[in-house]
Amino acid sequence: MGEYRVMGGRRLSGETAIGGSKNAVLPILAAAVLGKKSVIHNCPKISDTYNTLEILSALGCDVLFDGNTIVVDACNINGCLLPENLVAKMRSSIIFAGGLLGRFGKVSANYPGGCLLGERPIDMHLDAFRCLGADISEEEDIRITANRLTGGKIKLKMPSVGATQNAMLAAVLAKGVTTIENAAKEPEIIDLQSFLNAAGADVGGAGGNIITINGVKKLDNVEFTIMPDRIITGTYLAAAAIAGGKVRLSNIVPEHVRPITAKFTQAGLGVAWERNAVIIAANRRPMGIDIVAGPHPGFPTDMQPQLTALLATAKGESTVSDDIFECRDKHVAELCLMGADITNINSRNFHVKGVGKLHGATVKAHDLRGGAALVLAGLGAEGTTIVKDSVHVERGYESIHRDLQALGADVELI
Ligand code: EPZ
Repeated sequence: MGEYRVMGGRRLSGETAIGGSKNAVLPILAAAVLGKKSVIHNCPKISDTYNTLEILSALGCDVLFDGNTIVVDACNINGCLLPENLVAKMRSSIIFAGGLLGRFGKVSANYPGGCLLGERPIDMHLDAFRCLGADISEEEDIRITANRLTGGKIKLKMPSVGATQNAMLAAVLAKGVTTIENAAKEPEIIDLQSFLNAAGADVGGAGGNIITINGVKKLDNVEFTIMPDRIITGTYLAAAAIAGGKVRLSNIVPEHVRPITAKFTQAGLGVAWERNAVIIAANRRPMGIDIVAGPHPGFPTDMQPQLTALLATAKGESTVSDDIFECRDKHVAELCLMGADITNINSRNFHVKGVGKLHGATVKAHDLRGGAALVLAGLGAEGTTIVKDSVHVERGYESIHRDLQALGADVELI
């Protein structure tokens, strides 16, 4: 497994452009099974994308990944069995269930349970399919069958991103109208709606509380461009906040990033906007603040580890709560190895006492965003930090080290 070597002490400057969103491209690639030929631009070259393409190929689709454009031809798709080894590699592959169910009326997968972020149940996904008339058996693996799905009223117990997306995909070709109440409002949900409608679906309301899908007979060829990655944008803003300096990130959608930049502003850092760019100026030590990670438009859980790393050297005390994942805290112990003073009240809530500076150490990435947070912590630390198991970070960042180098950081992937 690779590791990052981060030399602390460099202030950041300059600018970089932000690429396509991982959490938008994965459900849109899964949606491609419902249609014919999908040409999708601005796709990030990250391992989760490659894993998803492997699943599409295993299902009989022809896939091509050229530059940042992916072409999926689902005309000869023949399978509705999700390959066990690929599902085990990537939990989010459950997102294929809705589209396969919608297209074939059946799907089977052995769905792995929890992961490092906690139990990753799929009860809301399965309940949504039941609302549309599916029969589900859950022995050693999950078999879902339905003659033809019929539209229904789905009410989510919490605004789950994946469950909202899977319900949308199952409903697109169903007979009649489906409503999804208490739907997730994340920008990636709106991108999925835009993709589906570009392919001939009839979906409305994404970004709001209720999404309505009028079932259509089929989807057609589609060409689409993925939205920019708001979490990569937030990650690089946090990098500048931790290292100090001023950076400009272009190719962004301001309203996607405001829930994140609100926290930098609250911490006393300068944030400025251009039409599709954001600029952060970090010329002073940030103030401690309180963070609650929750559903959009709240502060995103995927930025919680990165902000925890920033607050580790903020002036004063902070509290961090994650209302989405029950144990997104594997980065806390690693930050403490670097001299942070963070107390786990429990696995969802931490208390942070800002220290002057962290010191370099050898730490371990346990998951995608926690690993990114450790690279960021190294930027502001005294000396050298080694972040082991870079494979976790490569799941969601094409090359975080190259991007940070472009902003003046001294980061290498070994
Ligand atoms: C998506 O995961 C993202 N992944 C996650 O990003 C993101 O953190 C999360 O949404 C929240 O925004 C992708 O889009 C591929 P959820 P998802 O269902 O859909 C509970 C990253 O770092 N739950 O909205 O899995 C579950 O236990 C990744 O890029 C149920 O209880 O998230 C968890 O606590 C990490 N039953 C929470 O919801 C269900 O049926 C997860 O929220 C489904 C979820």
